[in-house]
Amino acid sequence: MNRSEVVNEILKKKCSAVMTDSATTFAPSNIALVKYWGKRNAELNLPMTSSLSISLDGKGTQTTIQILDSHQDQIFLNNDALSNESLFAKRLISFLDLFRSQKNYHFKIQTENNIPTGAGLASSASGFASIILALNELFDWQLSKKELSILARMGSGSACRSLWSGFVKWNRGEREDGMDSYAEKLPYEWPELRIGLLIISEKEKSIGSREAMNRTVSTSKIYQKWPQQVAQDLKKIEQAIREKDFELLGETAEANAIAMHATMHDAFPPIHYDLPETLQLKNKIWKLRQKGFPIYFTQDAGPNLKLLFLQSQTEAIKKQFY
Ligand code: PMV
Repeated sequence: MNRSEVVNEILKKKCSAVMTDSATTFAPSNIALVKYWGKRNAELNLPMTSSLSISLDGKGTQTTIQILDSHQDQIFLNNDALSNESLFAKRLISFLDLFRSQKNYHFKIQTENNIPTGAGLASSASGFASIILALNELFDWQLSKKELSILARMGSGSACRSLWSGFVKWNRGEREDGMDSYAEKLPYEWPELRIGLLIISEKEKSIGSREAMNRTVSTSKIYQKWPQQVAQDLKKIEQAIREKDFELLGETAEANAIAMHATMHDAFPPIHYDLPETLQLKNKIWKLRQKGFPIYFTQDAGPNLKLLFLQSQTEAIKKQFY
């Protein structure tokens, strides 16, 4: 199946009449503790492995969508009108192409991030998740969270995890059409757990995660060990969350991010996202930890770091890093 066949399968009994003038929705950004790295099907964004994330409370994307009486979409990012030729707009338009129905609808999309766009802070995840939520409202499809997760995945893999707060697991699934590859909220709460963003650069990353993943899978020799590492890390992280074992959570998440970056360093040409400041901050974190400070990091496809710590350490962390 290709992308539009999957979408048509999910929407087949749904009406495509516009039910409301406009719809506004919010989806949180999510940070993976066990990363999604590598696709087994690039068109459907089907992952090689399962992954597990935590959503950021109140940080993410708000999207407003309206039907336009035009033969073109109009896209606004953080209140700026974008050219439909820009990379951001092209990616969004090709996603919207899946949902125009026979009426060939065009849309005005206003999307606002309260996190930096494209800086490895997973804004594409919250972006596509909020768009699919907004389309669901606009057309009153009343889709289940499972169906919305599958549709969000068509925009960006990690978007399928951005439909919930708290801990979320994306199950890899086995089917070729990906109908069993969707995310679910895990039944655990850990209100004392904190994520701190250490923003080193807000610039767009030099190489996008899609290209970096594909290059890693096709050229890195150590990538073949990655699925095994993920399977072990998922068990440990789930145990850590269940038992509120912060040390196990931090150690596993940090090791998982380091292993993901190792597969990129092993790709050809190699991919390095670290800036000099990234390395300095990692060294600082490791030194603080040696002194008994309970703090860990994780890192996605970019130079910025996300700190993992407990609420009781908030003031001490602020003093050290902000
Ligand atoms: O969903 P994408 O294509 O933006 O890929 C996300 C990849 C990572 O952020 C590096 C890992 C993850 O699981 O979020």
